[in-house]
Parts: sequence; C-alpha cells; structure tokens
Amino acid sequence: MTLKWTMFAPRPRLRLGSYQGLKASMMHRQIKTWAAAIGALGLGLVLSLSAHAMEAPPSTAHGRLQFLRCASCHDISAAPSAKIGPNLMGVYGRKAGSLAGYSYSPAMKAADFTWDEAHLDRWLTQPTSLVPGTAMAFAGISNAADRAAIIAYLRNPVR
Ligand code: HEC
Repeated sequence: MTLKWTMFAPRPRLRLGSYQGLKASMMHRQIKTWAAAIGALGLGLVLSLSAHAMEAPPSTAHGRLQFLRCASCHDISAAPSAKIGPNLMGVYGRKAGSLAGYSYSPAMKAADFTWDEAHLDRWLTQPTSLVPGTAMAFAGISNAADRAAIIAYLRNPVR
C-alpha cells in the first residue's frame, strides 16, 4: 500500500502558489479517500485493477469502425439482411459453422470449436490458416490492436 501511495501522491513542489497549494491539498484528500476505498478491497484486487489499467481495454468505438472491413459481407443485427457471410450477432460463444439457415462451406461445417477470444484472433489474423478451405474471402488483419477491437465489438456490438 505504501508503494502505491508514493506512486499516486503528487510530487512536492517548491514555491507552491496558494491556489496550487489548495488544489494539491484537495487532490490529497481525494487520493486519501481513494486509498481508503482501495485498501478496503484488498491488495489482490488492487493489483489486478492496476494491471488492467496498464493494458488499456480495446475501445468499442475503434471496434465499430474496424467492423466496416467486415460489414460488406456480415451483418451483426437482431434483424439481419441477406449478406454473403453469416450474421455475426451472438457469434462469440457460438459453435463455428452452426448458425441455422446459413449455408456454410463444408470446411466450416466440419470445424469443431467454439468462437472464443483465441479462435477469433487466429481467424482474423488469417482465416484460411484456422479453417483451410473456408469460403470467407478475407486476407486477414495484421494489427493485433485492430483484431482485439473487432473481437470486443463482436462481444458487445454497441450502435
Ligand atoms: C468478402 C466477404 C467477407 C468479409 C469481408 C468478411 N467475411 Fe467473415 N465470413 C464470410 C463468409 C462467406 C463466411 C462463411 C465461411 C464459410 O462458410 O466457410 C464468413 C464467416 C465468418 C465467421 C464464422 C461465423 C460462424 O457462424 O461460424 C466469422 C466469425 C467471421 N466471418 C468474422 C468476420 C469478421 C470479424 C470480418 C471483418 C474483419 C469478416 N468476417 C470479413 C465472408 C466475409
């Protein structure tokens, strides 16, 4: 806790003006409240929280923008229109090649896995290396942050 405290505490400054001094003392009070709240949650949670803060979660806005690369072939909607690819609403956690009414390639129909983070990441890197013979004509995305943002969007497609 002491380590954390020194990390968050404002560096003491020489020649603090009265306004800055006031601001610093207010910050101090806020930090104290925070520290108390965090302390109550326990060190384990604090560590996991700060770990999360360090690896910023993929932004959904970024994901929605990236999904434009998929939108010519895929809907992600409760009321999908007819497109070349299957509707991706609810695809996370769905068995691959299992959307009723969609006519998959034999390769995709035979795929025996469920769409999770790892499979989607491999798929979006290079579809044909995960499912050789797939009908999805898409080269892949080399940028890992773009892939992560799309996966976050597939899990939670905010409009
Ligand atoms: C050129 C059209 C096209 C583009 C672009 C495209 N897809 Fe596809 N996608 C398909 C087709 C066709 C299939 C069905 C593949 C099969 O049956 O082998 C598919 C299948 C999938 C599946 C498997 C769905 C299931 O029900 O198992 C996922 C997941 C997927 N696409 C995600 C994406 C994402 C995310 C993007 C954008 C980064 C994207 N696709 C871009 C055409 C496309």
